[in-house]
Amino acid sequence: MNQTQRKVEAVIDPQPVVEGAGVRLKRSIGTRTLDYLDPFLLLDHFADTDREDYEPGFPLHPHRGIETVTYMLKGVVSHRDSIGNSGSIGPGDVQWMTAGGGIMHEEMPQVRPEGIDGFQLWVNLPAKLKMTRPRYQGVLSTEIPTVQIEHGVIVRVITGEAGGVKGPVSEIAADPTYLDVTVPANASFTHEVSSGHTAFAYLFEGEASFADDDQTISHTRLIVWSDGDFVRVTAGESGARFLLVSGKPLNEPIARYGPFVMNTREEIEQALADLRRGTFVYSE
Ligand code: CO
Repeated sequence: MNQTQRKVEAVIDPQPVVEGAGVRLKRSIGTRTLDYLDPFLLLDHFADTDREDYEPGFPLHPHRGIETVTYMLKGVVSHRDSIGNSGSIGPGDVQWMTAGGGIMHEEMPQVRPEGIDGFQLWVNLPAKLKMTRPRYQGVLSTEIPTVQIEHGVIVRVITGEAGGVKGPVSEIAADPTYLDVTVPANASFTHEVSSGHTAFAYLFEGEASFADDDQTISHTRLIVWSDGDFVRVTAGESGARFLLVSGKPLNEPIARYGPFVMNTREEIEQALADLRRGTFVYSE
């Protein structure tokens, strides 16, 4: 059977956004340009060395109907939530939080000389799991396999598989892949992506082409691939580092209001009513 290489469908410049209590970040999914990349609702990149731009953080706030995925490169985010988790997310760590039927949490970047650099991705939940029990997978950097594959390519496997190695985050409805890929200058990385799954790269260092015979794209940009069976990325003169993320589209209606993403407007009204009544947080 012939395998089809995915092409570049869109290249998107992240937009500056102020979020939380005043955090400056770059948003590339969840904007006017790209409202929804089913099943991905939002991609934020916070990278700053000026404490005023990140210290305000994300004080206590609710989520329902989605998963929030935080991956840190530099700096530390302290967190705590209504299901009793608390701690810090440090360099290379991942927090995969399933909000399900309702969670309250805070995410507060700590002031450090190196500042902060990290990502938050929102993954949608299917209708049947929107009100599920909240779940939290905190993964330390040391628990994330780093795989060296051909041509000196290095992949940190957060979820999904690369080079025959599976990532530690499991049992996620969207059947996602989340890789942090470093490709040396002029080397190529080829990776299978299930046909029908949405796939994107977020290039945050260097430059690369994301399809054969395609243009070289410089950081920092979001690259959306068309459908197909595999992707190939060829780094330019300065090498490249990017997130490679894929997942199964839900093809369900969405109703979105801030930190809540449900299927209908009525379910959003219910979330707001639950917040007012103090019955928002999931309970058995
Ligand atoms: Co949050």
